[in-house]
Amino acid sequence: MPYAHITGWGMSIPEPVLTNEDLAKMVDTNDEWIRDRTGIRERRIAREDQFTSTLAVEAGIKALQAANLAPTELDLIIVASSSPEYIFPATACIVQDQIGAAKAGAFDLLAACSGFIYATNMAAQSIRSGSIKNALVIGSETLSRFVNWKDRSTCILFGDGAGAFVLQASERPGGVLSAVMHSDGSGAESLTLLGGGARYPATETTLAEGKHYIQMDGKAVFRFATRVMGSATKEALALAGLKTEDVDWIIPHQANFRIIETAAKYLKMPLEKFVINVDRYGNTSTASIPIAAVEAFEKGKLKSGDKVVFVGFGAGLTWGALVAEWTGPIPAKKQAHPEQYRLFARLRSWARRAIRFLEGFLSRREL
Ligand code: UT7
Repeated sequence: MPYAHITGWGMSIPEPVLTNEDLAKMVDTNDEWIRDRTGIRERRIAREDQFTSTLAVEAGIKALQAANLAPTELDLIIVASSSPEYIFPATACIVQDQIGAAKAGAFDLLAACSGFIYATNMAAQSIRSGSIKNALVIGSETLSRFVNWKDRSTCILFGDGAGAFVLQASERPGGVLSAVMHSDGSGAESLTLLGGGARYPATETTLAEGKHYIQMDGKAVFRFATRVMGSATKEALALAGLKTEDVDWIIPHQANFRIIETAAKYLKMPLEKFVINVDRYGNTSTASIPIAAVEAFEKGKLKSGDKVVFVGFGAGLTWGALVAEWTGPIPAKKQAHPEQYRLFARLRSWARRAIRFLEGFLSRREL
C-alpha cells in the first residue's frame, strides 16, 4: 500500500490589508475589543480582480513548484472552499484549466472551515488505495465578498487567502498517518450563508433580507469549537498510534486565539507547539491551515520528520483532524518556473477552445 506524502506547499495572500482601526471607522468596534476577543489585528481583502480561483491558482502553482511536479502529472485536484467562485462549474475545474493539469479530475469540496482537512484526507486515501499517484489540494477563499460590512459580530473575523498541498504516492513510510472527519447537522443554523442556493435563489427579497451574507451565532460556534478541537486531535493521534508528547506541531484552524488557547489547555500542551497567525490574516476558513503550515515551514519551524496535527472545525457543523509526518523538501531535479506552467496552461486552454469552436462550426455546416 503506497504512502501519501505531502511533498509541496504554497500560499497566496492578497496585498490589501484591513486593520482593526480601519474596521473601527466602518462599524461600532475598536482594536482593543477585537484583539481581546479574537486575537486578530488585521486581515487581507482580495482586490476586485482577484477571485477564489486566482488565489487558488497562485497557491497551487507554488505548491507544484515546491514538489517539483509538472501540472500534467496531477491525477486529482480538490478545491475546498466556503466561497467557491460559482455553484458550478467547480472552482477546481477553473484551476485545472489555468494550471494546465491536462489529465486531472477536479472537484470542489464543501465542509466549510474543516474543508482542507477533509480534502487532504480524501486525496491521501485515493493515493493509499492506489487509484491515483499525485494530487493537488487547495483551500481558497474570498469570504470578504459574503461579509456584511455593517455587522460587527462577523465582519471583524474573516479574511481572504489560499493555501495548497501537493500529495504524492511513495513506498517510503510516512506522510499522512491518520485522519478523522465528523459532522453534526443539528447545529447547522449556527453558521450559515443561505442565499444563492436552490432554496433561496437570488431575488430582491433574499437580497433585502441579507441572505447572501454570512450569519453566525458566535457563542454557539465558540462552545462547539472548544469542545471538538481537543477531542478530534486526541482521536486522530490515537488512530496513528501516537500520544500528545510525540507531537511536534499542532496547526489548528485559525478562527480565534481563545479557541486555540482553550484547545492547548485541554490537551495539556504548551501554546508554543501551536502554529498561530490569526493575528495577521483573521479567519481564512479552508485556507487557514495550509497558510499556517506554509509559514511554519518558511520560518524553519516545521522540519522533515516532524509529527504534525492539522485540526479544524466549521459550519455544517463539521470538524476533523489529520496527523502527518512532514515530508519536507524533496531534492530538486530541474525546477520549472511558475510562469512556464502558466504559459503552457494558457496555450493549452486556447487550443482546446479553438478546437471546440471549430467542432461547433463544422457541425453547423453539416446540418
Ligand atoms: O470558522 C468558524 C467561524 N466562527 C468562529 O470561530 C466564531 C466563534 N466565536 C467567536 O469567536 C466569538 O463568539 C466572537 C469573537 C464572534 C464574539 O465574542 P464573544 O466573546 O462571544 O462576544 P459576544 O458575541 O458575547 O458579545 C459580547 C459583547 C456584546 O455586547 P453586550 O450585549 O454584552 O452589550 C456584543 O454586542 O460584545 C459586543 N460586540 C462587539 N463589541 C465591539 C460584538 N461584536 C463586537 C465588536 N466590537 N466587533
